Amino acid sequence: MNELDYPTPLDREIKLDPSRVIMSKTDSRGIIEYANDYFMEISGYEEYELMGQPHNIIRHPDMPKVIFKVLWERINKGENIHALVKNLAKDGRFYWVLTNFETKYDTDGNIVSHYARRKAAPSNVIYQIEKLYKTLRAIEERQSPETAERYFEGLLEEKGITYDEFILNLLGVNENSLISYFVDSSTEMGKNTITAKKKGLLKRMFT
Ligand SMILES: Cc1cc2nc3c(=O)[nH]c(=O)nc-3n(C[C@H](O)[C@H](O)[C@H](O)COP(=O)(O)O)c2cc1C
Repeated sequence: MNELDYPTPLDREIKLDPSRVIMSKTDSRGIIEYANDYFMEISGYEEYELMGQPHNIIRHPDMPKVIFKVLWERINKGENIHALVKNLAKDGRFYWVLTNFETKYDTDGNIVSHYARRKAAPSNVIYQIEKLYKTLRAIEERQSPETAERYFEGLLEEKGITYDEFILNLLGVNENSLISYFVDSSTEMGKNTITAKKKGLLKRMFT
């Protein structure tokens, strides 16, 4: 077999365990202050390589800028966002996640930390979001990030929905069930106590 027949690391996907959560905490500017064991296991980075680094250390080149723009606008207002993100592992492989964010403030109302919890994204959703992200990346490269943003806004306006609603529609679940899906399994302890009901949701999303 010719060596060109082998896929490059960039073509290779890391399959996530749908019951486990990838968690990280950053300061107000997105500098990593904590990453859980599963984050390190999947990204391939050691703790000392992540601490103090900007979170874009795992940014994948296929991700459109506009998605992160929307993400930061939302979390800087203290709002959650369920984004579908393709991440880059240290060895060049990739993994798709679905996010859940939480923002913590000090007593003066300044942002102290952002918490991100991520779980495996169902493959049928990945296929659809990949098409959209490819279009957005192409517009960003051939025209400009602003044009991609206008395209994205136009698309959502036409559907009369927000980015999250777009994602929820793709997933076929409502916001409450998605939040409980993250909350119940967001800790190592919770991970082992996913209720039968949540397992049902998991099953629906991953079959
Ligand atoms: C708590 C938190 C978690 C984040 N998680 C990710 C992530 O998993 N993948 C990613 O590419 N960006 C993530 N980001 C966004 C990055 O900070 C960054 O905006 C993004 O990678 C795009 O890079 P850029 O801002 O340099 O263009 C996260 C930000 C915060 C605050």
